[in-house]
Amino acid sequence: MFFAILGVGFFTYTLSYFILTLLSDCDLQLFFYEKFGKSPRRLKGQVVFITGASSGIGEHTAYVLAKHGVKLVLSARRNDELQRVKRNCIDISEGQLEDKDILVIPMDITDFESHRKHFRHAIGHFGRVDILVNNAGRSQRAIWDNIELAVDKQLFDLNVFAVINLSRVALEHFNKRGSGHIAVVSSLAGVIGAPFSGSYTGSKHAIQGYFKSLDIEKKQNKHSGNAVMSRTDIYEFSRRKLHRKRGTEIRHICTTYG
Ligand SMILES: NC(=O)c1ccc[n+]([C@@H]2O[C@H](COP(=O)([O-])OP(=O)(O)OC[C@H]3O[C@@H](n4cnc5c(N)ncnc54)[C@H](OP(=O)(O)O)[C@@H]3O)[C@@H](O)[C@H]2O)c1
Repeated sequence: MFFAILGVGFFTYTLSYFILTLLSDCDLQLFFYEKFGKSPRRLKGQVVFITGASSGIGEHTAYVLAKHGVKLVLSARRNDELQRVKRNCIDISEGQLEDKDILVIPMDITDFESHRKHFRHAIGHFGRVDILVNNAGRSQRAIWDNIELAVDKQLFDLNVFAVINLSRVALEHFNKRGSGHIAVVSSLAGVIGAPFSGSYTGSKHAIQGYFKSLDIEKKQNKHSGNAVMSRTDIYEFSRRKLHRKRGTEIRHICTTYG
């Protein structure tokens, strides 16, 4: 009898968690903070380093922060797109930010050796970084059996190893200062299995694990290492996916985030 009750309880919990996660399109912790957490207004004057700021979620995050006068480091590979985002941020800030308050750092984040140099550049410019938003990433679509190992490695370099390496560089700075935050854009695919996206799902599960571990290690400090899921239109799927073969990149039409 005891085990039957335990089984029913476990089943109900798992089902509710699964349904609520699907309905909220993000993890429940993020859903809670979005509804009841503090406003980004309190971040005014802080320095936020965003990776993958040239489009999509990273670009939109920059706009939300710029509106509240947050100083920004915008990084990605496409310098022209970053400059466009910078101009938009200055407009959106309505006088709170000027040219020197937004630093553009063009970088390929899979060039791990360059992380320290770029992060130091940001610290040299602003004197500090308060928050790192690990957003740069790519999706992937393929039948599991057919995925080439090179694609798995490429996805993990970008979605996992680049994130943890840059985060470790940031942590050195945060540890010295005694404060700092790291955010990671994960995915529903980091919590449940997504079909035809094996490498992507694996990479997002990996990042959840890495940051859960960091979160427990840092619980006593001010640092936090939460992997949060992006909250996007459910119909909007990543526009640039890795196909099953290395180098084949599918480009979809760009849409806006709300
Ligand atoms: N869209 C969704 O529905 C969805 C759902 C769940 C999770 N996510 C996650 O959200 C994050 C952002 O995705 P998105 O949908 O906004 O896609 P996106 O518009 O394609 O943005 C990806 C960003 O990452 C940058 N990037 C890609 N490869 C890079 C590299 N090697 N070095 C540096 N930057 C690189 C891109 O800039 P450059 O090309 O200029 O380098 C771009 O700014 C990803 O981590 C993704 O997994 C998205």
